[in-house]
Amino acid sequence: MRQDRALAWGAAIVLAATVAAAGAALAEPRGSVIEECAACHGLDGIARDTEVPHLAGQNERYLFNQMMAFRSGKRTHKEMRYMARHMSGQEIAALAAYYAALPPR
Ligand code: HEC
Repeated sequence: MRQDRALAWGAAIVLAATVAAAGAALAEPRGSVIEECAACHGLDGIARDTEVPHLAGQNERYLFNQMMAFRSGKRTHKEMRYMARHMSGQEIAALAAYYAALPPR
């Protein structure tokens, strides 16, 4: 019991440190989601692959609208549709705020 709690705190601290390292003081979407996005878009919002757009410093409203469009299927893209399909509007708003707050390249 006590050990479980210690583990949970440990995980929370690791997540907090990851988000803090990315310079995101404003928004705190679920850390695990950010890590999934980071695989393609980078934890700093700078994509390493030429096929993937940078998100850092992008207009918050624009990011929000694009993710809503991926979720609804209005903007078609297989991977982004897959990523957005189960997200709540709140989660999308938090992700948009997170990436908009990062320094652009
Ligand atoms: C498997 C790789 C991959 C993952 C994982 C991924 N993305 Fe994307 N994302 C892309 C690609 C590729 C595009 C460009 C889509 C296109 O060409 O229309 C994109 C586009 C976007 C855009 C639109 C950017 C623009 O300039 O129009 C946003 C916003 C976005 N992703 C956010 C996210 C978020 C938030 C997550 C995590 C929940 C995420 N992505 C996870 C590959 C990925």
